[in-house]
Amino acid sequence: MAGPPAFLSGRDVGSFAYLTIKDRIPQILTKAIDTLHRHKSEFFEKHGEKGMEAEKKAISLLSKLRNEMQTDKPIIPLVEKFADTDIWNQYLEYQQSLLNEGDGKPRWFYSPWLFVECYMYRRIHEAVIQSPPIDDFDVFRESKEQNFFESQESVIALCTHLQELMETIEDLDENRLKNEFFKFLQISLWGNKCDLSLSGGESSSQKTDIIDSLEDLKPFILVNDMEHLWSLLSNCKKIKEKASTIRVDIVLDNSGFELVTDLTLADFLLSSKLATEIHFYGKTIPWFVSDTTIHDFNWLIKQVKHSNHKWVSKCGADWENYIKMGRWVYHDHIFWTLPHEFCAMSQVAPDLYAELQKARLILFKGDLNYRKLTGDRKWEFTVPFHQALTGFHPAPLCSIRTLKAEVQVGLQPGQGEQLAASEPNWLTAGKYGIFQFDGPL
Ligand code: F6P
Ligand code: MG
Repeated sequence: MAGPPAFLSGRDVGSFAYLTIKDRIPQILTKAIDTLHRHKSEFFEKHGEKGMEAEKKAISLLSKLRNEMQTDKPIIPLVEKFADTDIWNQYLEYQQSLLNEGDGKPRWFYSPWLFVECYMYRRIHEAVIQSPPIDDFDVFRESKEQNFFESQESVIALCTHLQELMETIEDLDENRLKNEFFKFLQISLWGNKCDLSLSGGESSSQKTDIIDSLEDLKPFILVNDMEHLWSLLSNCKKIKEKASTIRVDIVLDNSGFELVTDLTLADFLLSSKLATEIHFYGKTIPWFVSDTTIHDFNWLIKQVKHSNHKWVSKCGADWENYIKMGRWVYHDHIFWTLPHEFCAMSQVAPDLYAELQKARLILFKGDLNYRKLTGDRKWEFTVPFHQALTGFHPAPLCSIRTLKAEVQVGLQPGQGEQLAASEPNWLTAGKYGIFQFDGPL
C-alpha cells in the first residue's frame, strides 16, 4: 500500500505555504519586534535598566530569526532549556535524517510547512524566555485583547441570545433544541474567521451580528456533519444514568471573539444537558498570534464578567461558576505547541491521548488543528477523513474549521475541482467552513 502523500511545503513556489513563509510570517515577526519597541518605557518602569537591556536582546534575537528565514538558512536547534526543548531538537534531527539532498540540513522553504511555521512561533518564545526579566511577555497579547474589544457588539448579541434562551430552555421541544444547537455550532464555526495569523497580525474582529448572518452563510459549509453531532449527544442524553457524565472536549483555537463563541457553545451544551462536563485545551505559550493561553482564557472570562451589559456579565459570572464547580476544566499540554501531526500523539504524549479518550466527543477548533489532524499533506479532496487521520481516533471527533490552508479531504467527487475553477483561493480565504465528523455514533 502506498504511504501518505507529501507534506505541504514552501518548496512549491506560489503555493500558500510558500507565500506564508515568504511574506506573512516575516510580517508577523516585524510586528512582534515593533510591539517590543513600543513597550520599552513600560519595561523601564517595571525593571529599570535591566528591562531596557532585555528589550534590546529580545529584539536582536527576533531580527536574527527574521534574517535566517528570509535568507533560507538551515534550521538550527533550540538552545534555551525548556520543558519541550529536547523533543523539538529530536524532531529537528528526525527531519534532518529524512533529507538526502543538498547539504542535508532542514531549511525554511524546503522543509514541511507545518514544521517550519510551528518552529517560528517556538523561536519567538525562545527569544522572549532568553530575555529576563521580560521573559513572561506575550508579544501577541495586545492584538488578542484588541480583537475582543472590537467585537463588543457581536459579544453582546451572542450573550443576549444565550441568556434569553436560558429562560425557556427547559421547555424547548427536541426540534427547537436541535435548531439552537445547530445555531451555536455555526456561530463557533464562523468565529474561526477571526484569527490573527491569516491577516498577518492585523486586526480581524467580528463587527456584524453573526446570528443574523447564519442563513446567508449556510451555502459556504462544504462538509456538514452537524446531524451526526446531534444524534451522538442527544442519544447520550436519552440513555444517561443519573450520576453518569457526558463529557465534551473542546480543543480551542483563537482567543478574542472566537473564544466567546466557543464558550457560549460550551455553556449551551451544559444548559441543554447535552453535556455535563466540558474540558478545554489551550496553548502553553503564545502561538500562531491569536491562539488561546490560560492567561487569555481567564482574562476574557473576567472581561465578560465585568461588562456593563447585564447579559454579558451574567455569562461571565456563570462561566466562572462552571470553573469553580469543575464542570468546565481547562487543560494545558506541551503537545499542542509541538510540530507533530496528531497521529503521533499516542506515542509522543500518551497521557494526553488517554485524557482525550475520556470524552464522548472532541471538537477541534480551527485551521491549524485541521492541518495537524490530516498531517498537512497533499491529500486528494475525496480521500475519506477517517483515512487522513492516519490512526488518530481517541474518541468520536469533529473538526470545526474555516478553510485557511491548502488541505481538504472528504469532499464529494468533483466538488473541489468545481470550487477551484470558480474561486482560485477557496482553500485559503477563510470563506468556506466545515463540520467534519469521524467516529462511531
Ligand atoms: O499561517 C498559516 C495558518 O496555519 C493558516 O493555515 C491559518 O490561516 C492560520 O495560520 C491559523 O488559523 P487558525 O487560527 O484557524 O488555526
Ligand atoms: Mg489560531
